[in-house]
Amino acid sequence: MDSGKSTVKYGLGKQKDNQLCGNTDNLIMNDWAEFVRNINMEYTQKTGRTRKFRIDVFGCQMNELDSETIAGMLIEMGYQEVTDNSPADIIVFVTCCVRENAEERIFGHIGALASECAEYGSIIAACGCMMQQPHIIEKIKKSYHNVKIVFGTHNIQSFPELLYTYLTKGRRVFQVWEKEDRIIESLPVKRAEKHKGWVNIILGCNNFCSYCIVPYVRGRERSRKMSDILNEIKALADDGCKEITLLGQNVNSYGNDLGEKDLFAKLLYAIEDIEGIKRVRFMTSHPKDLSDNLIDAMKNCSKVCNHIHLPVQSGSNRILKMMNRKYTREHYLSLVEKLRTAVPDIAVSTDIIVGFPGETEEDFEDTLDIVRKVMFDAAFMFIYSPRKGTPAARIENTTPPDSISQRFKRLSELQTGIATNLAKKLEGKTLEVLVDGLSKQNPDMFSGRTTTNRLVNFKAAHAEKGMFMDVEIIRAGAFWLEGKGGNERG
Ligand code: 5AD
Ligand code: SF4
Repeated sequence: MDSGKSTVKYGLGKQKDNQLCGNTDNLIMNDWAEFVRNINMEYTQKTGRTRKFRIDVFGCQMNELDSETIAGMLIEMGYQEVTDNSPADIIVFVTCCVRENAEERIFGHIGALASECAEYGSIIAACGCMMQQPHIIEKIKKSYHNVKIVFGTHNIQSFPELLYTYLTKGRRVFQVWEKEDRIIESLPVKRAEKHKGWVNIILGCNNFCSYCIVPYVRGRERSRKMSDILNEIKALADDGCKEITLLGQNVNSYGNDLGEKDLFAKLLYAIEDIEGIKRVRFMTSHPKDLSDNLIDAMKNCSKVCNHIHLPVQSGSNRILKMMNRKYTREHYLSLVEKLRTAVPDIAVSTDIIVGFPGETEEDFEDTLDIVRKVMFDAAFMFIYSPRKGTPAARIENTTPPDSISQRFKRLSELQTGIATNLAKKLEGKTLEVLVDGLSKQNPDMFSGRTTTNRLVNFKAAHAEKGMFMDVEIIRAGAFWLEGKGGNERG
């Protein structure tokens, strides 16, 4: 596997080759972390204050988990987290480039920090998918001078060393590895929640859907060893974790690169034996790889939640082919039928792209039709965004933007109606909810999720994060249910 040789360093000039390259042992990472910690201890002794950090995360759950790792590293290095947007010495952006509007928002947020940087001397570090693109690096170098440290998706472990370099040399450091390295285990992680946690099982993606930039910025599929995953989950359980979400761009291909078939199903069975873990979720599943063995595992494993996120992207076979999705609408429909036969009350959610280049009215009608047929519990809908370097970006999009917006509106209305109707059927029922704390929409209520991943806001005399409670649903809408809390489940 490539390591040092594939390193692309921006801005390190003629500096001696970075010692972390090709030698990514986290022992070395710990050394750099200790150097930074010493600098920070000296600073605290001199000034009486501790340096602070803040993290701004964009994009998917993998980025959420990366941000927990970065928080873990910063704490190791002697920084203290601020969560209320108050000034910080270092602000880290964990970025996403799946759609153009994410990139624009990130540049907007970075630009808006100019006065905090000037007044408070804050510095910005940027990492994640967006940083894997050379044109973004050039833009940052030229126009965003408050960004002092940049690293990519493959070298998150370099962060302490880069921070040390910045703190001691005072110059901007850019280090982005072009290719993936082996997986680094046991980086420090500061979990955002105790009662639920994300667990990466496979990094990267081999699918090259024609619209998607992820394979270019996250590299090829690399599965973690099953023993490492199980040990991590056991440690989480020992620490009070009740629900885990297994993460990967395509969890269904977990183990393929280790030469094992259906290892993901085996992993689900193995997690059944871990005491303390009560719920298991996973995302994302690719329809082309959803095997019968996996559906059986979902049926047989009592901890696996009654929910699957199964992106369909389009209901038109012609567009699915152009998207390089490698399944047909008929195959997708047959999978949903199999899932519903195996797990009768399973909730199915999806992702849909509207306005892929060349999408005709007829293609779009096929998408509406599959949405009506499947009746998704939830759908994340996106307007197609051309991504530089992907095959689809080279196809001319002749559909006028107004027509695409109209299609998006029609799809959203259809989906909201379906989700509302499905939710209404839950009124009067009592559902088990894992409590997440106070509701964001309504702070005098608690909130939590059902096994089907529905958000429930509810009133109760007493509820606590991590409790399983029976909640009676009194009102239901497309996006959240309202309930009244009853008893804690034993
Ligand atoms: N344009 C719009 N949506 C996209 N997605 C991925 N790439 C693009 C793009 N170029 C959507 C897909 C994917 C989800 C995470 O983001 O629906 O499943
Ligand atoms: Fe992107 Fe397709 Fe891979 Fe998902 S499976 S990350 S959409 S290339």
